[in-house]
Amino acid sequence: MRVSYHGHSIVKVETKGKTIIFDPFITGNSQTDLQVENENPDYIILTHGHNDHVGDTIELAKRSGALVIANNEIADYLSWQGLNTHGMHIGGSFEFDFGKVKLTPAFHGSALVTENNEIIYLGMPAGILLMVEGKTIYHAGDTGLFSDMKLISELHPIDLAFLPIGDNFTMGPEDAAIAAKFLKAKTVVPIHYNTFPVIKQDPERFINLLENQTGQIMNAGDSIEL
Ligand code: NI
Ligand code: MN
Repeated sequence: MRVSYHGHSIVKVETKGKTIIFDPFITGNSQTDLQVENENPDYIILTHGHNDHVGDTIELAKRSGALVIANNEIADYLSWQGLNTHGMHIGGSFEFDFGKVKLTPAFHGSALVTENNEIIYLGMPAGILLMVEGKTIYHAGDTGLFSDMKLISELHPIDLAFLPIGDNFTMGPEDAAIAAKFLKAKTVVPIHYNTFPVIKQDPERFINLLENQTGQIMNAGDSIEL
């Protein structure tokens, strides 16, 4: 499978002829190489309801017919906008035709701000385990450091982990390096930095803090064959 990074929290997985996009925040994302009109995902997976993660989901899914996989509150909200959705919740897993998705805890918020400046609370934020082609990918979503990351890796050995390092809203580099240790992922990729001034970080600093994990900085558009 091909796993590519596209700035902020956007990760794309291409497997078995299907395209899965995590957190497609394209419009307004200073770090992305994607254009909304060029993307035709089969599945969209959302970690939580914040605008910098839900992003262009409605436009993309309306055009491509993508199934949106998210926590139940986000799934309900997006189904009212006319999207095909699959609601799940923390600790639950489901076997889709491309592989298995499991929602893990994340410590963060999950409210969407609408065009009318209303705040809609959309349940608990999540991390995502994606089990595809015998490999396990962990997208931490937005979260602070928590010790149950050890439990996640005990239950599901992780091949590739995407961890936020931007600080301010999520873990910063130091805590993300501890997360990498807890997760024992074979490869760790820093995400959720440099998009806004308050999350400006040098990803090299995160890589240098890693002890036994292999860190890989991915620029927008870079991919890994897994
Ligand atoms: Ni967030
Ligand atoms: Mn975010």
